[in-house]
Amino acid sequence: MTLAAEIIGAANREFAADDLLRAKMKAAKKLSPEDARSASRAVFAYYRWHGWLKMQQPMSDRITHALELTENFAKRPLTFSNEELTTLAVPAWTNGTMEVLPAWIRAIQGEPRLWLRAKQGQGMALAEALGDTWIADNPLLAEAVEYLGAEDLFRTREFQSGQFEIQDVASQAVGLVAAPKPGETWWDACAGSGGKTLHLSDLMQNKGLIWASDRAEWRLKKLKLRTARAKCFNYRSVVWDGGAKLPTRTKFDGVLVDAPCSGMGTWQRNPHARWTVVPNDVRELAVIQHQLLAHAAPSVKPGGKLIYSACTLAHAETMDVAASFEQQFLDFTPLPLDNPFLPDTKPSARQMFWPQDCGGSGMFVAAWQRKA
Ligand SMILES: C[S@@+](CC[C@H](N)C(=O)[O-])C[C@H]1O[C@@H](n2cnc3c(N)ncnc32)[C@H](O)[C@@H]1O
Repeated sequence: MTLAAEIIGAANREFAADDLLRAKMKAAKKLSPEDARSASRAVFAYYRWHGWLKMQQPMSDRITHALELTENFAKRPLTFSNEELTTLAVPAWTNGTMEVLPAWIRAIQGEPRLWLRAKQGQGMALAEALGDTWIADNPLLAEAVEYLGAEDLFRTREFQSGQFEIQDVASQAVGLVAAPKPGETWWDACAGSGGKTLHLSDLMQNKGLIWASDRAEWRLKKLKLRTARAKCFNYRSVVWDGGAKLPTRTKFDGVLVDAPCSGMGTWQRNPHARWTVVPNDVRELAVIQHQLLAHAAPSVKPGGKLIYSACTLAHAETMDVAASFEQQFLDFTPLPLDNPFLPDTKPSARQMFWPQDCGGSGMFVAAWQRKA
């Protein structure tokens, strides 16, 4: 409780609660795994149920109340009305920025699920090797393994030998709908620490080439460590600041712009962000997303694909950016995609993966094909 209170007391827009939590855990060498788990449970509960808490109460009472609400919601979700949930679980400005569906709120008030991505064809074998796992009965998601156990996965032989990545199921869906083929040339323009580069590489069976760029060099350093562990060799990394000067003149079979965004789709996993993101972030990030797409688009070969993804559900960042891109770039036509979580729905060039449908974060994906 003391550690949780300390983190909550220090967290703000600049210092995110989950970063502080990680830093404290690293620094506190004597912290038992049980204490670490209970501190993180308390911090996340606090922000998930923040709208219900009375700020005039002492911090310890607020944390206790948040933990009680967590338990009540897990045991008796229907004692919470839709109206109560949609008005208290997220800030008021959310309404109007996106659709605040009761089903979405019910999904993000629960504990997030832990998703692993196995290498192609290895989902079942990984699930059996690790134990305490679950795989959906859906051939499109055969490599998405939910981990239900309590082991430290980073210490497992399977992780250390690169047999899986920890990757949210909605992020996995981005690689799946991008569907790169072995031997193709792709550009992962906002590669960060490489979550999607690794997936593209696996889907390409390590054949062909991926240019992985990001403006943050420190993220690309992490990408190099991860690619080495995963034995992913068909990539090269380069710093790109997102501007008009591109890192290469190569024309690509596919370009993925996994753009920086407000992260509203991650509000289950990262509830502190509900109370630090402001509407202006959404507006500013939408402009950046449009610029990134506009700069990257000319690198797509005629007949090639452009995929735009963002882990947000705000209209201004998703649908509006896709619409303004389409108005400006008439040589790109919408490319219908299957939604792996709702395989019976009609393919659409714009997909919103909602937490209540996918069991992971919220994610938007749009796809175009450049005219031949
Ligand atoms: C959503 S994250 C990428 C996550 C990554 N694709 C993955 O799957 O792990 C967005 C990335 O865009 C990068 N970024 C932010 N602004 C940028 C810009 N103007 N130009 C290029 N990259 C940018 C950030 O450094 C961040 O790594």
